[in-house]
Amino acid sequence: MEVIPQSSIIGAEIRGIDLSNLSATGHDRINQALLDHQVIFFRDQVLSHRQFCDFAERFGPLQDYLFADGVDGYPYITEIVKTESETESFGDFWHSDSTYLERPPKITLLYARQLPPRGGDTLFADTYAAYEDLSDGLQACLGELNAINSASVVPRDENIYAEVKSRNSDKKDQQAIHPVIRSHDETGRKSLFVNSIHTLAFEGMTRRESLPLLHYLCARVEQPEYSFRLRWHENTLALWDNRCTQHYALNDYHGFRRVMHRIIVEGERPR
Ligand code: SIN
Repeated sequence: MEVIPQSSIIGAEIRGIDLSNLSATGHDRINQALLDHQVIFFRDQVLSHRQFCDFAERFGPLQDYLFADGVDGYPYITEIVKTESETESFGDFWHSDSTYLERPPKITLLYARQLPPRGGDTLFADTYAAYEDLSDGLQACLGELNAINSASVVPRDENIYAEVKSRNSDKKDQQAIHPVIRSHDETGRKSLFVNSIHTLAFEGMTRRESLPLLHYLCARVEQPEYSFRLRWHENTLALWDNRCTQHYALNDYHGFRRVMHRIIVEGERPR
């Protein structure tokens, strides 16, 4: 197995491995590569729905996605589709997945099934780096704060869930309070855990009071130096660690179809 870093801080391609036939040692090395690089991807993986679920389950119990049904017979595989005639897409904001839950998913797996001829890349940002580059004073101040994360905060007037089969629309006010600085359960490293789509306000402050600092922190995460861009090919499978990354699905392929299959893996309560 070969691990090829994609930038100096985030992202790695893993070569020389067939995910349909993975040994325990192979899995351990993949898990270590994910901890080291935060986002990893594999090209040319031909997996059935069952094999995709089996691979995902090696990282922990699979998590139900609140706002969408799974594909037939596989409740944990969410199909994310943008058709030729649609203009809105799913995930075209910087975010970490489902931070409005008490226990947001620790890992997301995304498998490219059908792609536009160009466009539809996904950007990833390293939120360890975004935290580590803050001044000692701001780190200390943020270390005292919690933030309210909501399923319904969207900076644009859009239905962000439009591209998946919607359900549980009564739960779109779902909220959870999490520390602004999160310690990773496995690496112990600290990261910035607010995002522009779900973080409503700091606990004990109004949204208006919170927004200037929230905007500053989100802009820090979005700095190009902290990012890496994944150009998908069909049968590319990527995994990212939601505890220390954010991502942004580029919506730059109107007129073409993009079909992705997503699985999320249960995480701990952020602390
Ligand atoms: C997501 O935000 O989970 C989807 C990302 C993508 O479609 O590239």
